[in-house]
Amino acid sequence: MTKISALQKARAAYQPKLPPALANGAKVSVMEGQPTSAVAHADRIKGLFKATFGSPIVTFEKAATKLSGEALTVGVILSGGQAPGGHNVIAGIFDGLKSINPASRLYGFLKGPDGLIKNQYVELTSEIIDAYRNTGGFDMIGSGRTKLETVEHFEQAKNNCLALGIKALVVIGGDDSNTNACLLAEYYKSNGIPINVIGCPKTIDGDLKNDQIEASFGFDTACRVYSELIGNIGRDANSAKKYWHFIKLMGRSASHIALECALQTQANITIISEEVAERKMTINEIVEMMCESIVKRAENGDNFGVALIPEGLIEFIPEVKALIAELNDLLTHEAAAFQELSDPDQKIQFISSHLGRDSSYVFSSLPHSIQLQLCLDRDPHGNVQVSLIETEKMLAEMVAFKLKELKSEGKYKGKFTTQTHFFGYEGRCAAPSNYDADYCYSLGYTAAALIGAGKTGYLSSVRNTTKSSDQWTSGGIPITMMMNMERRHGEDKPVIQKALVKLDDAPFLYFVRNREKWAVNTDYVYPGPIQYFGPTEVCDQVTRTLELEKQD
Ligand code: FBP
Repeated sequence: MTKISALQKARAAYQPKLPPALANGAKVSVMEGQPTSAVAHADRIKGLFKATFGSPIVTFEKAATKLSGEALTVGVILSGGQAPGGHNVIAGIFDGLKSINPASRLYGFLKGPDGLIKNQYVELTSEIIDAYRNTGGFDMIGSGRTKLETVEHFEQAKNNCLALGIKALVVIGGDDSNTNACLLAEYYKSNGIPINVIGCPKTIDGDLKNDQIEASFGFDTACRVYSELIGNIGRDANSAKKYWHFIKLMGRSASHIALECALQTQANITIISEEVAERKMTINEIVEMMCESIVKRAENGDNFGVALIPEGLIEFIPEVKALIAELNDLLTHEAAAFQELSDPDQKIQFISSHLGRDSSYVFSSLPHSIQLQLCLDRDPHGNVQVSLIETEKMLAEMVAFKLKELKSEGKYKGKFTTQTHFFGYEGRCAAPSNYDADYCYSLGYTAAALIGAGKTGYLSSVRNTTKSSDQWTSGGIPITMMMNMERRHGEDKPVIQKALVKLDDAPFLYFVRNREKWAVNTDYVYPGPIQYFGPTEVCDQVTRTLELEKQD
């Protein structure tokens, strides 16, 4: 890194906060709870994780003596999509290990799991670590989406780690990556291989959380960036009074980001995919729901507004989900015939004629551009890539069509012009908010303490984060405790249960209590940019989601 911004320079000096148990270096005592089980299908999980199942929850408490004097050599990988704060997790691991013994060493495997398998690494020195403290991004060592799941991978990783003298690996990733971290821990423990594995909960999507894990890191910062942008757009819409802004927000499956942004900005319309699935809503019903707000606002003379659409929506609409499943099959089985068609209209015609009656009807109701996206974009496994489908444009087009109908029936007299946006990558590498800077550093430091305590198959956990950091607690949660069996690609697999938006939880209920008002009025909140320096009520807020969850 050559030139750095003034903010980056000032921010480098920020010393992240730690839970009191860790504030004195790794002078902690290790408290162990009762044996644990799994969230569901405990017998099957137990059968698959004979060596690691049932471990107790671990909590660290302040002690007079150090955990262990032994120097530790540790490897770390970043896995999956970027999330603000990843560098601070690594800095926390580094400082935690050094506090155990200054001769400890940390290796960063490059480009995610691939680096571990292919033995591409860098030794992380204090010079490297210092250059990345409190910065966004994953560029210190890079990340990747290779899945670490075969015995061959586990063996390659073992050979590479043992050659470097690595005694423990930290996997910084989401639910799938930490599921694989647990499989790796189980494989090593059951085969007597002396490498422990610890996970850290990462993803802006916010869907790796449960009773023991309060939040996945990066969610806080990403939502603040999106909410700032949405607030700015709301203000522009309220100034110009001529556009409806349809904004798609990242979140591959769960709608936590959309919900949090709704709570922070009070946008007029927010669709929550989990509710769409629960109420078995059709696309037409979603369009009608949006039109209701647009018509009412138009009656008040407000031909503008802001609508938030979660990225994963399309897969939660039952009729579209069925259509996508049929399309995946069709495009696999009829691949040769389909490939011969070059004209887009012929492709659409081919698909329509091969689909069942219901799916064919849904397909024909979609805008032409979306039909094409559904036909053309498939991933290497033969699945339609839903994240590439421009849901915001699809809804803008369908809503415009519906409003025309309403106008012809004399039920709508307004003017509807849209602007569409997709906010995702803008938020994934922002400089971490104070919350994420502190939380991530603490997660990393906790991971080092878990390694020092000789634990494996654990996820680093820092809790009580809605309170000031002097009340934070830290420890480890056995990953098997978060698991259940799920059907994946036609097979039952043990996986960490994904946390979708709960429709009976405080954040969603708060949204429901207010959404009718927000739909009609212009009640926007303008959160402004993340503040790193200044009064604590401005700089150290937690997300509305976490605040409401903990108020419960
Ligand atoms: P992770 O679950 O790996 O953290 O990634 C989440 C995410 O940011 C989603 O919100 C988004 O759908 C996806 O990554 C985009 O992936 P890619 O970076 O491969 O385009």
